[in-house]
Amino acid sequence: MRVTVTAGDPLTAEADLLVLGLWEEEPPAPPVADLIEPGDWSGKAKQTLLIYPRGVIPARRVLLIGLGKRSSPDIDLLREVAAIATQRARDVKVERFACALPVVPEHTSETVAAALTEGSLLGNYRFLEYKTDIKPEERRDIDELTLITLPDAAEEAMRGVARGGAIARGVNLARDLANLPPNVLTPAQLAERARELAIAFDLPVTILGPAEMREQGFGGILAVGQGSANEPRFIVIEYGAHDTDAPTICLVGKGMTFDSGGISIKPAENMDAMKMDMSGAAAVLGALHAIAELRLPLHVVALIGAAENMPGASAYRPGDILKTLSGKTIEVLNTDAEGRIVLADALTYAQRYNPAAIIDLATLTGAIGVALGPHAIGLFANDDTLAQRLLRAGEAAGERAWQLPLWQPYREMVKSEIADVRNAAGRQGGAITAAAFLNAFVGDYPWAHLDIASTAWTDSKPKAYQPKGATGVGVRLLVQALRNWTE
Ligand code: BES
Ligand code: MN
Ligand code: ZN
Repeated sequence: MRVTVTAGDPLTAEADLLVLGLWEEEPPAPPVADLIEPGDWSGKAKQTLLIYPRGVIPARRVLLIGLGKRSSPDIDLLREVAAIATQRARDVKVERFACALPVVPEHTSETVAAALTEGSLLGNYRFLEYKTDIKPEERRDIDELTLITLPDAAEEAMRGVARGGAIARGVNLARDLANLPPNVLTPAQLAERARELAIAFDLPVTILGPAEMREQGFGGILAVGQGSANEPRFIVIEYGAHDTDAPTICLVGKGMTFDSGGISIKPAENMDAMKMDMSGAAAVLGALHAIAELRLPLHVVALIGAAENMPGASAYRPGDILKTLSGKTIEVLNTDAEGRIVLADALTYAQRYNPAAIIDLATLTGAIGVALGPHAIGLFANDDTLAQRLLRAGEAAGERAWQLPLWQPYREMVKSEIADVRNAAGRQGGAITAAAFLNAFVGDYPWAHLDIASTAWTDSKPKAYQPKGATGVGVRLLVQALRNWTE
C-alpha cells in the first residue's frame, strides 16, 4: 500500500471511501450531519459509522471514526484509528481510499501524518505466505491511501508519511522474520535475509560461518549451535560507516531461530512459539531498514548471533565450560539459558567499533514476563543517560520500557566457582541475573539491554494495528531513540 498526500477539501474529494475523524466535542456539520441520525454518533474513541452519501458529496462511502476527546489527544489512538479504517477499507474491497488529516492540538501535521501512516501500514499487515486456502480477492491488498490536508500542511504531512512509512516497513519486516517457521528461517536463511537487506541499501555486510567463527574464537555461539544440523552464523551490517563524525551505535540482536532448550529441553506445550526467539535480531534488522530509508546521520552497526538451540548428539551440555570470544569462561548450568551465551560473543565483538553505545535486544527470559507482563519491555543499563534516552524514546514511540536494577549483588549471583560466570542463577530475579550476565561482556562501554521476551509475540489483538503473532517490538523504540540522537 502506497501512502500519498494531497491538499484540498475532503468533502469535494472523489473517493470510493473517505475517512473522516471526528472529535467528541465536534459533532458532524452539514452536509455530513444531514446523512446520519444524530443519536447514532457520539465521536467517542474508535467509534465507527459507515455512511453512503448517494451524491450529496462526491465520495461514494464515508467512514466516520471517533477520535475521542480533543482536549486530551492521543497519538497512539491515531495509529489505532488508522488501522481500523484500513481494515474497514479492506472489508469493503476498495482499491484506494482517502482520509482527511485531522488537526490535532499540540501536535504538528508531520506527527499526525506519521502516526496515521504507521497505524495504517501496521494495521494492514498480514502474514499470508503459507495460506494457500484463501481466495485471491481476500488476498488482495489496498493500493493507496491518500491523506487530504489543508494547503499549508501538505509539505509537513509528506515528511510524516515518509517517516511513518519507513518505521512501519521496518516493523513489518521484523514481523515477517519472526513469523517465518523455523524450518524455513534457519540461521543461514536469517543471514541471507540480512544480506538482501544490506544489498538493497548498498551496505557492507559480513557473514561468518562456523569455520570462521572457530578461527576467531566465538566459543559461545558455536557451542549453542553445535547440537543442530543448521549451522550458526554471525552477521554484521554497517550503516553510515563513511560518516566518520557520526557517533557509532551498535545494535545487537539475539537470533535464535528455534530454541528447543537443548539438552535442558523445554516442555512440549507451546514449544512452537520458540520460533520467535530471533525477535531481537528481527528488530535490529527492521530498525536498520528504517534507519537506512530515513538516511539518519549516524554510524549504526547491526550485529546478530544466529543459531538453533537443539539437543542433537553433538549438543553442548550442562556442565560444559565454554571459552568465549572475550576470553572469559562460562559454566553452563542450563542449556536453555542460551541467549546470553550467544550475546556474550556478540557484545564482545561490538566493542571493536569503539561505540558510543551498545544496545542489545533479546527474547532473553520468561522471567521478564513474570515481572512486567506483555505491556512493557524490560530495560537494563550500565549508563543512566542511555537508559533515559531509551525510556523516553519508548514513551514517544508507543513501545514503553521499564528499567530494572543491575546492582552488584545481582552480579554476584552469576559468578561461578570454577569458571568466570555461570549461565543460570535460579528462578529468583531471572531477568535481572540474565542482564547481569550480559553486563560481564560489555566492558566499560555504555550499554543497554532490552528484554523483549514478553512483548515480541501476542496471541490476542491488543491494538487494532497489532495482529496476532509477531509484534516487531523494538523497531519503533530504536528508530525513535536514534532519531533523537541526531537532534
Ligand atoms: N528464549 C527463552 C526465553 C523466552 C521465554 C522467550 C518465553 C520468549 C518467551 C530463553 O532462551 C530461555 O529459555 N530462558 C530461560 C532461562 C533459564 C533457563 C535460566 C527461561 O526464561 O526459563
Ligand atoms: Mn532458551
Ligand atoms: Zn532462547
